Amino acid sequence: MERTKILVTGGAGYIGSHAVVELYEAGYQPVIVDNFSNSSESVMHGLKEILGTSITCYAIDCADEIALREVFAHEKDVRGAIHFAAYKAVGESVQKPLAYYHNNIGSLLTLLKVMQEFEVPNVVFSSSCTVYGIPDQLPVTEETPTKPATSPYGNTKKICEDILRDVVAAPNSSVRTILLRYFNPIGAHPSALIGELPLGVPNNLVPFVTQTAAGIREKLTIFGNTYDTPDGTNVRDYIHVVDLAKAHVVAVERLLKGESEAVETFNVGTGRGNSVLEVVQTFEKATGQKLNYVIGPPRLGDVPAIYADVTKANQVLGFETTTTLEESLASSWKWQQKLMSNG
Ligand code: NAD
Ligand code: WQD
Repeated sequence: MERTKILVTGGAGYIGSHAVVELYEAGYQPVIVDNFSNSSESVMHGLKEILGTSITCYAIDCADEIALREVFAHEKDVRGAIHFAAYKAVGESVQKPLAYYHNNIGSLLTLLKVMQEFEVPNVVFSSSCTVYGIPDQLPVTEETPTKPATSPYGNTKKICEDILRDVVAAPNSSVRTILLRYFNPIGAHPSALIGELPLGVPNNLVPFVTQTAAGIREKLTIFGNTYDTPDGTNVRDYIHVVDLAKAHVVAVERLLKGESEAVETFNVGTGRGNSVLEVVQTFEKATGQKLNYVIGPPRLGDVPAIYADVTKANQVLGFETTTTLEESLASSWKWQQKLMSNG
């Protein structure tokens, strides 16, 4: 039987590559569009080794209308798209706001325009829990009010959500979209053939933890321990990247079956909040590695605590995570070791 084709922009990236694996394993034919601005050819080799087949990849910019049109023309029967392609570093977005607005918004606008031309209505969008800012109540549901963004990056996610809502609401629009608000993705594929490839000094906690354990960084600095949380350190909802990837498969399925409302929003997390100290301790337990860490001052702009209410994704999508924090961190460590062995 012919596999249903799904375009995956940013499919050579961290989350996108894991989604490509899950889509293929669920019987779809993912087609990647990625400009490799934050990825490497090695990801394509990893995908081939995991899946035993090559996945088609167009090394183009998603905001390049002519090139994207050629992809749709060449592939012909694409039924939907998952739009991961974006820049994602919060700090960098403060330094280079124009690049972030241009890339993150431009790529979505171009994708939607070309999808409209080819009459492809279904799109899953990578949003983020960053749209909730510092929430007034925990856990956050999809009804929790969004807050003014604290960074240009966060703003691009809110703006892209709004663009999609407006496009869906236009008269005679056939566009249907599912907005997935990810919490904190961590870990790597169990094969350790794909994973996160942080450039330079990682900003995110888990890559910093694994690089410290590997001796690349001298020590982890925990950003503050006097927050109003159980142990004083920040609380987050850390979701394993393979679990997160699977949410995309069920979202695509729902769109293709025409079961969804024109716009639907889902939190994608575990529903559990873990503190930074818990992450450190769980990492030590999962890997047997002692972690060198110090407590430092709070990081500007950090949200003290946020974790998801996942009732809606559970009830509507039938989505549930299965990986524990310990398993997730063990997979991060396995991936770090693989990166080291590759030099
Ligand atoms: P990533 O940087 O690993 O993946 C993004 C991929 O998109 C990269 O391979 C990059 O080369 C590609 N890309 C960027 N701009 C492009 C363009 N204009 N055209 C074609 N390709 C382009 O990031 P990720 O962690 O996999 O994140 C994927 C998506 O999920 C992003 O939209 C991000 O904002 C969102 N998200 C990520 C997190 C997180 O913590 N990682 C959390 C919430 C939301
Ligand atoms: C996690 C926790 C830090 C590094 C970011 C984006 C957000 C979303 C998810 C994309 C925090 C603490 C970290 C370190 C530390 N991404 N920490 N020492 O801040 O929850 O969110 O990723 O949409 O938009 O802002 O993730 O991994 O940076 O931090 O103590 O060296 O670890 O303070 O509490 P964050 P993170």
